[in-house]
Amino acid sequence: QLRVAVFASGQGSNFQALADAAADGKLGGSIELLVCDRASAPVVERARRAGIDAWVFDSSAYASREAYEGEILAELQRRGVGLVVLAGYMRILTPVLVDAYAGRMINIHPSLLPAFPGMHAIRQALNYGVKVTGVTIHFVDGGLDSGPIIAQRALEIGEGESEASLAERIHAAENALYPWAVRGFAEGRISLDGRRALVSAGAGAGADDD
Ligand code: GAR
Repeated sequence: QLRVAVFASGQGSNFQALADAAADGKLGGSIELLVCDRASAPVVERARRAGIDAWVFDSSAYASREAYEGEILAELQRRGVGLVVLAGYMRILTPVLVDAYAGRMINIHPSLLPAFPGMHAIRQALNYGVKVTGVTIHFVDGGLDSGPIIAQRALEIGEGESEASLAERIHAAENALYPWAVRGFAEGRISLDGRRALVSAGAGAGADDD
């Protein structure tokens, strides 16, 4: 069975959706570990409640990103982790982790990439005035929110819609789509082939089918 590590820095709504899917036997794997760079993040409490181990670290205690990533990598290998799932992990990764998990690391982002990468995608889409935005899941390649795209969902922005309303709808779309992607990977229907993500027909339309 696939062993998954989730990396997160904040609220953890996606972590929760993945943990719930795992508890229901719908993830195609188990969540071995939460990796978090902020001890006070709500996601840490979510892990505790779900009975999932958390590896929480303080980046300022390390000389470099490579130093803490080396420790994380050792922990992932010790636990036999086969997929790293970034869920609101707000740090740029170095090749220490990106290369070790090439083709086995995915990210979710609250826009239709390559539009609006970075930390404030929802606000940027609203401020720009685009009429359609959405959610992207992609393999991680070491750039900022870049890498071969696995799946996207589009959402229309309502006239005069608030940031809170749009954020809520985006998070709901993310929470539905991410467990589907992890399951597709676990079942071998989603994989990386060079610079492209292969998503087989059997992976279905996503989110709603299981
Ligand atoms: C999600 O919207 C995710 O797409 C975003 O952080 C949020 C985390 O929410 N990630 C990025 O912006 C990556 N650049 P959550 O903590 O409730 O899962």
